[in-house]
Amino acid sequence: MNKALRQAIIAGNWKMNKTRPEAKALIEELKPMVKDAACGVVICVPYTNLETALELTKGTNIKVGAENCHWAKSGAFTGEISADMLAEMGVEYVIIGHSERRQYFGETDQTVNQRVRAALDAGLKVILCVGELLEQRETGITEEIVGMQTKAALLGVSAEELGRIVIAYEPVWAIGTGKTATAEQANEVNHYIRTVVAKLYGQAAADGMTIQYGGSMNAKNADELLAQPDVDGGLIGGASLKAPDFTTIVNAASK
Ligand code: 13P
Repeated sequence: MNKALRQAIIAGNWKMNKTRPEAKALIEELKPMVKDAACGVVICVPYTNLETALELTKGTNIKVGAENCHWAKSGAFTGEISADMLAEMGVEYVIIGHSERRQYFGETDQTVNQRVRAALDAGLKVILCVGELLEQRETGITEEIVGMQTKAALLGVSAEELGRIVIAYEPVWAIGTGKTATAEQANEVNHYIRTVVAKLYGQAAADGMTIQYGGSMNAKNADELLAQPDVDGGLIGGASLKAPDFTTIVNAASK
């Protein structure tokens, strides 16, 4: 395993936060702070902020992502947004399979896979989220759950397309709870995910894949988490809403 083979990416997941003026203020504050980052920097924002984010980040090192997309190309799906609509705007990334979507919006391994397919077909890059519930960890089935989620999401994804997928390991019990996985726990599951990818696509593909950790990563614990050999960046919720905190995490990943 060689960390130098892959790019560390710090991605913010703003979730359902920030009106357009608030988004503008945060991005303007962030731009100069992260301009020298040695890692990838992505902000995944609500649909209503995509145009603002794309406009304000033009010519900078900040990439823009959405937080979800529908699996159909178009059609009668009131309230939904297609991957083609995002790609046409210039959006580069899309988060798929976030645990909040699995938990509150009926997302299943099958719909995650359909969305992944749609996003790849539209030319987008995917941040694919996997992670176990607390009771699953306590029962000792973390690897089974995370392995199953990973394999199901990647059904029908070619080796070439895998290059446009980043996996984010987000233990559900660590999201927004202030309870972070220990650096060892994060590394252990990230490493396991890499072995699953290696079995499907070969060791070289697995070694080149960016696998992030997400779940209460913040300015204080980022250093330790990001120093782990299999933790290639982070998917950041709460701390991505504050430019100085997000920047500290970006700096930690740039070391
Ligand atoms: P928090 O960083 O707020 O725990 O959220 C993590 C997350 O869900 C990122 O997608």
